[in-house]
Amino acid sequence: MTDSLTVRDNRTGQEYDLPITDGTIKAADLGKIRPSDDTPGLAVYDPGFVNTASCRSAVTFIDGDQGILEYRGYPIEQLAEKSSFLEVAYLLIHGSLPSKAEYDAWVHEITYHTFVHENVKSFMQGFRYDAHPMGMLMASVGALSTFYPDARNISDAENRHMQIVRMIAKMPTLGAWSFRHAQGKPYVYPDNDLGYTANFLSMLFKMSESKYDADPRLVHALDVLFILHADHEQNCSTNAVRSVGSSQVDPYSAVAAGVAALYGPLHGGANEAVLRMLRRIGTKENIPDFIKGVKDGNERLMGFGHRVYKNYDPRAKIIKQAADDVFEVVGVNPLLEIALELEKIALEDEYFVSRKLYPNVDFYSGLIYEALQFPPEMFTVLFAIGRTPGWLAQWLELVQDKEQKIARPKQIYTGERGLTFVPAAERWS
Ligand code: CMC
Repeated sequence: MTDSLTVRDNRTGQEYDLPITDGTIKAADLGKIRPSDDTPGLAVYDPGFVNTASCRSAVTFIDGDQGILEYRGYPIEQLAEKSSFLEVAYLLIHGSLPSKAEYDAWVHEITYHTFVHENVKSFMQGFRYDAHPMGMLMASVGALSTFYPDARNISDAENRHMQIVRMIAKMPTLGAWSFRHAQGKPYVYPDNDLGYTANFLSMLFKMSESKYDADPRLVHALDVLFILHADHEQNCSTNAVRSVGSSQVDPYSAVAAGVAALYGPLHGGANEAVLRMLRRIGTKENIPDFIKGVKDGNERLMGFGHRVYKNYDPRAKIIKQAADDVFEVVGVNPLLEIALELEKIALEDEYFVSRKLYPNVDFYSGLIYEALQFPPEMFTVLFAIGRTPGWLAQWLELVQDKEQKIARPKQIYTGERGLTFVPAAERWS
């Protein structure tokens, strides 16, 4: 078997051998296919990059048919069960698990960079009373680039490390303050005696008590949710981080682009849509009618189906367990009963089975977030905090990858050509 593709250009009758490497051909090799020297080479038309590899990456592996997700080779199930979010963040950034000394140093670094400059606080206080927390997060992460102008020096490894630590450390502070702002409550400063996730909960919910003491089961559940969201290879927001980062801008600006992409309802907003759907269904008795509507093509079963997973999303299984833990502490979300029944019916129904539609990560996550007292606008902020190490690991890989160039897709031009401009005074007379 030869690892190449023979292409015959029927315009000229000429044949080309294109090498196949890692299951791909190089788009640049296609560019060599041209009927004559003065016609453009063949290009690939692929809106949404549905079948285009944009990079080589050693961060995250997904096998959608088998329902496998691994960070740096470690199955998500093992990481969710046995690791912590900061350990997973270390793994994603550094590529291997930390020794005890490395882990302690990492936690220390992250913990002592949780505070932000007071002017960041005034900046955030300037937002309108009803500002969406995701918009505030996007702007304030981007604003950090002005507080750390040294971040522009992306060719220096130590400097890059500093910005990575700062961003992972400060994301919960910015996220929590965005939440407090919408509630008209004073911003709470980080409490560095607490772990990463417990500190986040303290900044979110602390009022007049001297120390916020979150239930460890809730801290653990949120930590697991952060782990599950920490990376998902070349999704829309990661692609945004890489694309913007390819201009060699500082990492705060690149991550702000990732937050912006996540803000969109097709990416970060599906769990909120699941809650709306469950509320609309209202009772178990209404489920058959709802399923009929889905099968008739009138609506979608939100939280089901995935572009990549054609099997049970491995994250959904873990989230279901986390949901049970949370409900044990705060009481069962009444919508859970409807969700469970929906899942049961859908998993047995030919429509969903034949299309390989299974619950995805968003089917249960909204239920947990709601039980933890988060309003829907905060769901995507939580996603962004969890995804930050993934964005940064991908950014780090990008800036060190000699094969990467500034992202600059081609287009198929469909507009006019060669028009003659008539000045306004003549056109309007
Ligand atoms: N409910 C009912 N039918 C569905 C659903 C659904 N949730 N998802 C896909 N289908 C059907 C679709 O109608 C099509 O049927 P047919 O072949 O008869 O036309 C078939 O399944 C294939 O669907 P598709 O739209 O081609 O699949 P896609 O890969 O383009 O879409 C998706 C993936 C996630 C956008 C889609 O499954 C969907 O809209 N799901 C609901 C929204 C949702 O839960 N989104 C969260 C995704 S997970 C987020 C993350 O990983 O970050």
